[in-house]
Amino acid sequence: MALRPLLSEAKIQARILELGAQIDADYPTETPLYLICILKGACYFMADLSRAVRRDVLVDFMGISSYGKGKTSSGEVKITKDLDISLEGADVLIVEDIIDSGVTLSYLTGLLRQRKPKSVRVVTLLDKPERRLRPVDVAYVGFRIPDEFVVGYGLDHAEKYRNLRDVCVLEPD
Ligand code: PRP
Repeated sequence: MALRPLLSEAKIQARILELGAQIDADYPTETPLYLICILKGACYFMADLSRAVRRDVLVDFMGISSYGKGKTSSGEVKITKDLDISLEGADVLIVEDIIDSGVTLSYLTGLLRQRKPKSVRVVTLLDKPERRLRPVDVAYVGFRIPDEFVVGYGLDHAEKYRNLRDVCVLEPD
């Protein structure tokens, strides 16, 4: 397998600063913004985005395992690690690394809305709109990318490559 750079570390970090500024401008400063990271891939993006915003944030993490993710129509997921904090009355921003079919996220946003937050929005570093099966309202997108298999900056292939600083396309030799 060969790695072809798609998004450099510098490009990713510059875009995250822009996203942080946009998020700062969009939310009231009086109350903290709840950043909810969906494990595992999004933890790198979460670490950088949470420091790119200047406002108060609370961070928490949710682990999910999918029942045949993207292959079932329901997209139902099992929570393997639930949040420690209550979302009631909070402005919630779900932090994802990539949106593909949208099946996971459409299920997850429904689930989190049941917890009575004030608002729920989504920020994703990468979006593959060509792959969408389920409509998802994504408030903030870092980069729209073509339908290629990407790794790095949190994204894996069989758990490998998450720690690459760039996002790369994984190609057969
Ligand atoms: C990725 C990503 C989303 C989901 C998107 O997670 O973080 O949660 O897939 O796919 P969808 O739009 O087709 O539903 P993944 O299952 O790869 O888990 P990981 O972050 O632990 O690697």
